[in-house]
Amino acid sequence: MPVKQLVQHHFFQIIFNVGLTEHIRTATKFSGRKIPLTVFASPMPEVYRKRDKQQVPRGVANRRAALSWIRNNAESGVLYFGDDDNTFDLDLFQEIRHTKKVSMFPVGLIGEFAVSAPVVKEGKVVGFFDSWPANRRFPVDMAGFAVSIEFLKLSPGAIMPFKVGFEEDVFLKSLGIRYEDIEPLADNCTKILVWHTQTVNKPIPTLRIVNEDTGTSINELINNISEMGVIKSSQRKGTSLYYTNSNGRITF
Ligand SMILES: *[C@@H]1O[C@H](CO)[C@@H](O)[C@H](O)[C@H]1NC(C)=O
Repeated sequence: MPVKQLVQHHFFQIIFNVGLTEHIRTATKFSGRKIPLTVFASPMPEVYRKRDKQQVPRGVANRRAALSWIRNNAESGVLYFGDDDNTFDLDLFQEIRHTKKVSMFPVGLIGEFAVSAPVVKEGKVVGFFDSWPANRRFPVDMAGFAVSIEFLKLSPGAIMPFKVGFEEDVFLKSLGIRYEDIEPLADNCTKILVWHTQTVNKPIPTLRIVNEDTGTSINELINNISEMGVIKSSQRKGTSLYYTNSNGRITF
């Protein structure tokens, strides 16, 4: 990331394994630039380490440490969990700056839909387009939301759980937000400003577009990612599309 364009930000590096190599690498990258950097080394509790690999809640202990540091040291600003496997459009950082409570936006290259996104109708979030809803109220990716620190501090008990796959949902629920509190960014969630980038060899998914005008942000979002070649769309074949909200599953 071209860090020089982010002078207003305070970066946190959170370390998975207590080892200093990564820290030194980041510190070197940041040296000479006027961006404050705080490094946390917060090991995962022993009890979780012993689990099967799939069930190990990676990145939770360190995010919890960062949350606690923020509560004690920050008064204002915006919290965003960017990961080393995310690729960002710098516009994202301009947009999240104005977050009042919780803002949300699409993340590209997630799951079978090749995107995880809030569904926006008339400027309001009405549900979530994510191929692994898993009964989550907020089926979003870690990189798909930002929280204002003033708002975070209103919920002293808000916490990220050691529960694989449910970290975002439980954290967002613990902030006590409702759908109507969510501020949709990225042109009403029709654009992708952050990607989950991995080097994998997978075929381009085909999404089945039955309804050309769902009255939601999803048609434009799909058109946008289809133009970028991330998905193919078809009226006859492919993955059936739906979104979820607190009433259940809505098929497009
Ligand atoms: C989002 O949608 C609302 C309602 O249609 C509209 O008023 C607003 O201008 C839109 N925002 C953007 C950034 O397109």
